[in-house]
Amino acid sequence: QELKLSLEQIEKGGYEHFMLKEIFEQPKSIQDTLRGRLLVNEGIIKMAGIWDHLERINKAERIIIIACGTSWHAGLIGEYLIEEFARIPVEVEYASEFRYRNPIITNKDVVIAISQSGETADTMAAIKLAKEKGAFIYGICNVVDSSISRYSDAGSYTHAGPEIGVASTKAFTAQLTILSLIALKLGKHNGNLSNAEFMNLITELDNIPKKVEDVLNSTHEYVKKISKDFVSATNFLYLGRGFNFPAALEGALKLKEISYIHAEGYPAAEMKHGPIALIDENMPIVIIAPKKGHYDKIVSNVQEIKARKGKVIAVVNYGDEQVSSMADYVIEIPETSECFSPIVASIPLQLMAYYIAVYRGANVDQPRNLAKSVTVE
Ligand code: G6P
Repeated sequence: QELKLSLEQIEKGGYEHFMLKEIFEQPKSIQDTLRGRLLVNEGIIKMAGIWDHLERINKAERIIIIACGTSWHAGLIGEYLIEEFARIPVEVEYASEFRYRNPIITNKDVVIAISQSGETADTMAAIKLAKEKGAFIYGICNVVDSSISRYSDAGSYTHAGPEIGVASTKAFTAQLTILSLIALKLGKHNGNLSNAEFMNLITELDNIPKKVEDVLNSTHEYVKKISKDFVSATNFLYLGRGFNFPAALEGALKLKEISYIHAEGYPAAEMKHGPIALIDENMPIVIIAPKKGHYDKIVSNVQEIKARKGKVIAVVNYGDEQVSSMADYVIEIPETSECFSPIVASIPLQLMAYYIAVYRGANVDQPRNLAKSVTVE
């Protein structure tokens, strides 16, 4: 019998789309990004790019994170991580805005450029501008030897492997992994993290690949099933607080990109300043509500939504009761430190965007009007 497997089918490794394959690769891509860097037994994080320039980075007056798209969302979480653990002021900028607004930059600034492809034109132009003004450029890229990685003064690669699906999944969680490592390493060396805190956090970071695997296994079928209920939705709201606010933005972006359903991400507490006006029985609202991280506040947000008959899809920890009892759909994820919860919480949101798009017959790997790498303005 003739073998009719095309090269592409082989590359998809038995998955229907690259995006699904890449979602399922995340336990490995996160592990690959940690490998050789996170040495829990020795109690250290090894990163030559940071170590060789430790003074420069830890003495920075501020860190400016520059990126576009999904990488910009990773940058927002990077801000929370670095400010929390290293106590260095961080600003996060869209590369396209930064480059055209005559930004104030000095040689005491450190710029972190985040880019999966390492080729995004706006990000490249922004770091050129920052370098001309004397800033130190640290690149976080996935593609080895890409333009941004070559132009940077130092950097760390995310080892996510090639990402083919236009909607970024495994590159995003690998970026969060690198940003976690950087924040913890800076905090350890500048004295903001005690040894005990550092050890607790790196031990938990080491557990993340396993937790991501657990969440893939435990939520996949359920998310696939419930996604059917949303094929005709025209709007979606994604809410989260703290570290999970940017995770809500990223959840909304995934849905927009591949299913073409309008979706907005919001910090849950900002709901009352606008989005609440949109809530009725036709509005699905994804709410990220892990135990650690303003849980009580989120409970009251969910009450406000239910009073207006919104359909709540809650992402909660195993065994959750309060939010779960009010939610229409409950997606359970393992508990972790608040700072790493966006990595775990993003997984079911990626799956949901994927299945809704598939049920709508959309081309998930190559959504209309979008490019994997935007090398022009
Ligand atoms: C495009 C892609 C996004 C990506 C963004 C930034 O819009 O479709 O998935 O997040 O560019 O790309 P970069 O390669 O710089 O991370």
